[in-house]
Amino acid sequence: MASRASDIGPPESPGDPDDADRLAVHLVPMRRRHLRAVMRIEAQVYPRPWSLPLFLSELNLRTSRAYFVARVGGTVVGYCGLMLVEGDGHITNIAVDPLWQRHQIGTRLLLNATRHCLARGATRMTLEVRMSNRAAQTMYRKFGFEAAGVRKNYYAESREDALIMWAYGLDTAKYAERLSVIESGIRGSTLVEDGDFGR
Ligand SMILES: CC(C)(COP(=O)(O)OP(=O)(O)OC[C@H]1O[C@@H](n2cnc3c(N)ncnc32)[C@H](O)[C@@H]1OP(=O)(O)O)[C@@H](O)C(=O)NCCC(=O)NCCS
Repeated sequence: MASRASDIGPPESPGDPDDADRLAVHLVPMRRRHLRAVMRIEAQVYPRPWSLPLFLSELNLRTSRAYFVARVGGTVVGYCGLMLVEGDGHITNIAVDPLWQRHQIGTRLLLNATRHCLARGATRMTLEVRMSNRAAQTMYRKFGFEAAGVRKNYYAESREDALIMWAYGLDTAKYAERLSVIESGIRGSTLVEDGDFGR
């Protein structure tokens, strides 16, 4: 298992962008003890945050779900959830603390989710994203997601439409090259509880 991020981690705030090369991010499976921090982020980034019971029920579905948190030092700064069904990976949730956005935390989480899909035999990934959420869509496109349809009024509180996106051919050499380019662009280091990538 990788060393504890708190042993190697930089300060518990984003700091200067030049600190990016020193940034040590630790990705670990989400556990109940992370949920307080997760809920705090959830409340900040979504108009209709997931409830605690919803997170708990997701964590209980061990065979078909994979949830990871990103930690810097001892602080949870983001998280990502994946549902695996018949060869497809479905990103159920991905969010980064507003203080930590644009520090490649989302990229690290999505890269890890993609690798997790591959390890579990999934060759396609899908997700829904708000039509207006250009920031997330830009990140997804970097991972090869393309628009495939629209779910009308998907977000109940605002009746906003969801864009359905898919990424195919996760098991191809072309996609491996895409991931390797993404990975080589990540500054700092990323430690995953059962492996590591990045510098
Ligand atoms: C979407 C989200 C998870 C991205 O996390 P992040 O850690 O900030 O993303 P990264 O730093 O890894 O950025 C990856 C790329 O996404 C794009 N991107 C991210 N935020 C962006 C923004 N605010 N504006 C424009 N592009 C953006 C950029 O292309 C960026 O690469 P670059 O920094 O090299 O230009 C984060 O913005 C977030 O939590 N948003 C609120 C919750 C949410 O919308 N979740 C998605 C639901 S479908």
